[in-house]
Amino acid sequence: MTQASSRISGFHKLAISERIEKTLEFAGISEPSVAEHFQNTGNLPADLADRLIENAVGTMNIPLGIATNLRIDGRDYLIPMATEESSVVAAVCNAARQCYDAGGFTTSMSSTCMIAQIQLVDIPDPENCRIAILERLDEIRDICNACDPVLVEHGGGFRDLEVRVLRAGGRAMVITHLIVDTRDAMGANAVNTMAETLAPHIAKWTGGRVYLRILSNLADRRLARARCVWRSEDIGGTEVRDGIIAAYEFAATDPYRAATHNKGIMNGVTAVVMATGNDTRAVEAGAHAYAARNGHYGSLTHWEVTASGDLAGSIEMPMAVGLIGGATKLHPTARACLEIMGVENAAHLARLIAAVGLAQNFSALKALATVGVQKGHMSLHSQNIALMAGAVGDEIGIVAERLVELGTVRVDIAEQELKKLRSGQ
Ligand code: MEV
Repeated sequence: MTQASSRISGFHKLAISERIEKTLEFAGISEPSVAEHFQNTGNLPADLADRLIENAVGTMNIPLGIATNLRIDGRDYLIPMATEESSVVAAVCNAARQCYDAGGFTTSMSSTCMIAQIQLVDIPDPENCRIAILERLDEIRDICNACDPVLVEHGGGFRDLEVRVLRAGGRAMVITHLIVDTRDAMGANAVNTMAETLAPHIAKWTGGRVYLRILSNLADRRLARARCVWRSEDIGGTEVRDGIIAAYEFAATDPYRAATHNKGIMNGVTAVVMATGNDTRAVEAGAHAYAARNGHYGSLTHWEVTASGDLAGSIEMPMAVGLIGGATKLHPTARACLEIMGVENAAHLARLIAAVGLAQNFSALKALATVGVQKGHMSLHSQNIALMAGAVGDEIGIVAERLVELGTVRVDIAEQELKKLRSGQ
């Protein structure tokens, strides 16, 4: 069979149905149900999907769950989470239940400032140049603020200037940081426009050459924080508390463990970021860069014992999320999720997400320090395996339960169990 060509000109100009047809033709898929499947875009209208990205052929639906039991800053919340991973939503509900009576989570936010970077090269006297750029503070403020009068009207805009000299590849570069309060916007568009507008001025003032003009995802001026105390008696005693602290200490010293520890935190964080139509990759990049900010990749959370012998957990991480712009505003599910949470502004959303990240970490560490994650995870995962084996309706629960009883959650075993069930054995 000759290989079909991927060189398709004008694919973006086709209607969605034509793109589906071409794609399936390329892959040799003639089954009509596949085309029908792509045409069903669920709760994201096809024309909106087509506007959000290029070459759209459909949507990719993942489950949206609700985390319950959350008490944050004295108020109760139901928090929507979009995730494909079993046990992520349940983990948050469990962690939140165990601290609900003690008062739940307290949160705060450093600011809603983003950083944009401008890279300047071909500078013989970088230190001199650095000071020369800093002298232009007032002019720079005016140029930046003129880029986005609406942002300024809403209380945002240029806040501060930082200029750093870096040396790499045998030459110096002068890096200008624009620190901009982007308020309820995630802010990428606002700060990128400012950086692009200012760059030629910097080149003219210094005689250097400008290359990159882009935001930094290490949004360390936009830190979301949450803390919470779990009473020892609410979590199974001091042994559990000490196990959680030992697990944290492991992550704090070992990057191999810290990567997994932080991945667990991001299970919660990313799920809420996704449910609200925000940029999951921006938040993830910021989280991991922040975890390595001291030259050693460590934990995003801290765990310690309080004076009364209880367990105190805290989290601090960049949280570049917004309420306006892109999918947040356009995706009907994202809008509904924000409404469910009663989110008032971007900082509010960021604080709620930090609390979810901390809750997620609590549950993971508690499970790891006690029974392990497989027990809880596998009982949920067993349902997926039963589905994969072909179980339908009531069969799913029966086969899943059987897999857990057997302690082997595998598709081949699920197929055997399904066969037995259907033959009445
Ligand atoms: C799995 O998705 C997340 C965990 O591995 C997190 C952790 O180890 O802390 C359970």
